[in-house]
Amino acid sequence: MLRSFKRYKCSLLTFALLTFAFAGLAQQHTSIEPGGVWTDNRGKHIQAHGGGIIKYKNHYYWYGEERAQGLDTAKRYVSCYESTDLMNWTFKGDALQQADPENLGSHWVLERPKVFYNNKTKKFVMYFHLDDRSYKVASVGIAVSDKPDGPYRYVKSFRPLGHESRDIGQFIDDDGTAYLVFEDRPYGFRIAKLSADYMNVEEEMSLIPKHMEGGAIVHYKGLDYAIGSALTGWDPNPNLYATAPSLKGPWSEFKDIAPPAERTYGSQSTMMLKVTGTKTTTVLFMGDIWKPKTQWDSRYLWMPLEIGEGKLWLPSPQSFSIDVKTGESKIVSQK
Ligand code: DGJ
Repeated sequence: MLRSFKRYKCSLLTFALLTFAFAGLAQQHTSIEPGGVWTDNRGKHIQAHGGGIIKYKNHYYWYGEERAQGLDTAKRYVSCYESTDLMNWTFKGDALQQADPENLGSHWVLERPKVFYNNKTKKFVMYFHLDDRSYKVASVGIAVSDKPDGPYRYVKSFRPLGHESRDIGQFIDDDGTAYLVFEDRPYGFRIAKLSADYMNVEEEMSLIPKHMEGGAIVHYKGLDYAIGSALTGWDPNPNLYATAPSLKGPWSEFKDIAPPAERTYGSQSTMMLKVTGTKTTTVLFMGDIWKPKTQWDSRYLWMPLEIGEGKLWLPSPQSFSIDVKTGESKIVSQK
């Protein structure tokens, strides 16, 4: 009797362990499916819209707008996810949970958060677009943390170099220098260097006189490539790119990154991520497929770019895998 009870307990335990193991396995992603529902370690749709990524101590951190249903509507949330392979992401919580910091009123806006790690101050500095409901404030907000996943503490807001700033993008050059890309509605697309402590925007590199948002930059084999989207609200449009020998320009004409009729395959640029490994370098296009009426269900369109010698092209989306050690990416299925 006692022996069979022990055996029963033992098989229950084995069953529980196996269930756990399978649940764990089920969450493992071996590829990225552009436009699909991308789940985190909890099996929940990743909420990191209009986001940005940094690499810190061999871990990637992905920050973005947390737009899950059921959150306190008076607050705005910036989520943080951690990964070592860019395909599997662990939810680290909401790095920033912010109540209206500047009396902006109901429906105030916090969009496109980007985090920079400052090696000198050892602080993580988060920039975001801060606005009122009519997008008239056009400023950036800054919040700071000692840890990558927060909590971040709101510090201040300002207009970078005194200019209007709506969509922001981040660029960290190969030498570690940090830049903010911002959309200045009256003039165009600005790229500016952050101050030594990252608490300010200090020096303008370029004003590209083109009305573009969703700005993203990557440095690849001696050239800077800038991507931007037209100003069509949440609706997709054909994103464009230009190149320059340095951030100061001169910038080339803008060209299509994909067939214009595809409207960037329904997405809008938010960042380009350079993955350099032992064998090669892959540059990933990171875009948002916005669903304005059901923002929590907005998707991500990540795809390895064809890039080099002044040309950049976003291939038609297909599932792919990426190896962060070798830098190689591989198409795993045809859509
Ligand atoms: C397009 C921007 O890129 C988004 O970040 C957001 O500001 C929407 N416009 C709002 O319409």
